[in-house]
Amino acid sequence: MFEELTKKKKTMAVIGLGYVGLPIALEFAKKIRVIGFDIREDRITLMRNNIDPSNELEAKDFKGCDITFTASADDLKEASFYVVAVPTPIDEHKKPDLRPLLSATRTVGKVLKQGDYVVYESTVYPGATEEDCVPLLEEMSGLEFITDFKVGFSPERINPGDKKHTLTKITKVTSGCDEVSSEEIAKTYEMVIEAGVYRASSIKVAEAAKIIENSQRDINIAFMNELSMIFNKMNINTFEVLEAAGTKWNFLPFFPGLVGGHCIGVDPYYLTHKSAMYGHHAQIINAGRGINDGMAAWIAKQITVKLSNLYTNLKECRILVMGTTFKENVSDIRNSKVADVVYELKEFGMLVEVADPCADSGEVLEEYGYELIEQPVGPYHAIIVAVSHDEFVALKEDDFIKMIVPGGILADLKGIFRDKISQLNYWSL
Ligand SMILES: NC(=O)c1ccc[n+]([C@@H]2O[C@H](COP(=O)([O-])OP(=O)(O)OC[C@H]3O[C@@H](n4cnc5c(N)ncnc54)[C@H](O)[C@@H]3O)[C@@H](O)[C@H]2O)c1
Repeated sequence: MFEELTKKKKTMAVIGLGYVGLPIALEFAKKIRVIGFDIREDRITLMRNNIDPSNELEAKDFKGCDITFTASADDLKEASFYVVAVPTPIDEHKKPDLRPLLSATRTVGKVLKQGDYVVYESTVYPGATEEDCVPLLEEMSGLEFITDFKVGFSPERINPGDKKHTLTKITKVTSGCDEVSSEEIAKTYEMVIEAGVYRASSIKVAEAAKIIENSQRDINIAFMNELSMIFNKMNINTFEVLEAAGTKWNFLPFFPGLVGGHCIGVDPYYLTHKSAMYGHHAQIINAGRGINDGMAAWIAKQITVKLSNLYTNLKECRILVMGTTFKENVSDIRNSKVADVVYELKEFGMLVEVADPCADSGEVLEEYGYELIEQPVGPYHAIIVAVSHDEFVALKEDDFIKMIVPGGILADLKGIFRDKISQLNYWSL
């Protein structure tokens, strides 16, 4: 497979061209022939015009790539090596929603031929590839797993907005369903991954490795959030405590905050779901999820209590929330917990305005029901800096003083301005 791909005798197809799929498709298309497939025609049109709908890549990244973008599943017949990178969200009950993954699997199953490879990159629980996807591939294609076609799993580790740890610079875990496929898949990825490839011993090990990377992060942040709740009662600044503790060589650098987005706050539910199917109630992972999911309400409560001590009528309080994306310097608003803070404050009748230079106001309105303001106009009774976009980090105390009523609150959720505020009523996690 690897050789045929490099000689362009065979073609790769990437199914799902979002944050994960498009970078991987373009990187491979510098070396081999690639078909980029997505069900969204509008996204395909943008990509044909060298525009990344996820705003991560630039027009120059499309240059010199041997890639055909299509929304027609028929075009996939030409491919022999399928990479699946579609979303793996959770439903309203916080259970894995495998519909996009199974739908993409059906699409591939319909065109699958003898000798083909399918590699999944979407984050899933251990077992999803072989127990949920492979039977569907067999059913749709009429072919037999391993004898007729091979399957692998290679989790994606890219970090949106991170210009240092980019796709080719992160070690890629790969796996296959037998020795031959493990090697062919590893060699194929080695073509583009400068940091090298780690050959996991099985598909399940590769699936589990990815899911625990994000679960570990979630649990560690939950611990920080719990500390923040404790230290807040004691009137101790958590960031100062973490800085002091961080002088020990083995103290891990995690910080309190809102856990949103489509990975850290979602993936642990895949693991707890599968764990429950095996009769094990995952206590630590669930506890972490509980703390992090409740953080927005806790933050809103702290700010509301402080405001109610200052002002008799909360309904007259104007609040500015700075940032609504799920993390700094990205436009991605999916599963943003800042929206939960906004809802909580609005519940108390406060007048809440939200500003974010990175987010699209139309998308925010559609997703969360509020628009973004272009230019904040003070005075506000509280300003909440919720996301550390570069534009916000660059602000000085004077900039806030101009926007906050005398005695009003600056709530700094990211601890950005900890040492820089001397005059304002300052609160951080
Ligand atoms: N975004 C990240 O930083 C990141 C990092 C590591 C892993 N992951 C994982 O990678 C997977 C993809 O995430 P993403 O962030 O790229 O998602 P995304 O929403 O940015 O992109 C998914 C793309 O798949 C398309 N799609 C949906 N269903 C499809 C189908 N049936 N057939 C073809 N295309 C379909 C969508 O139109 C969209 O363009 C998820 O499992 C996610 O957990 C994401």
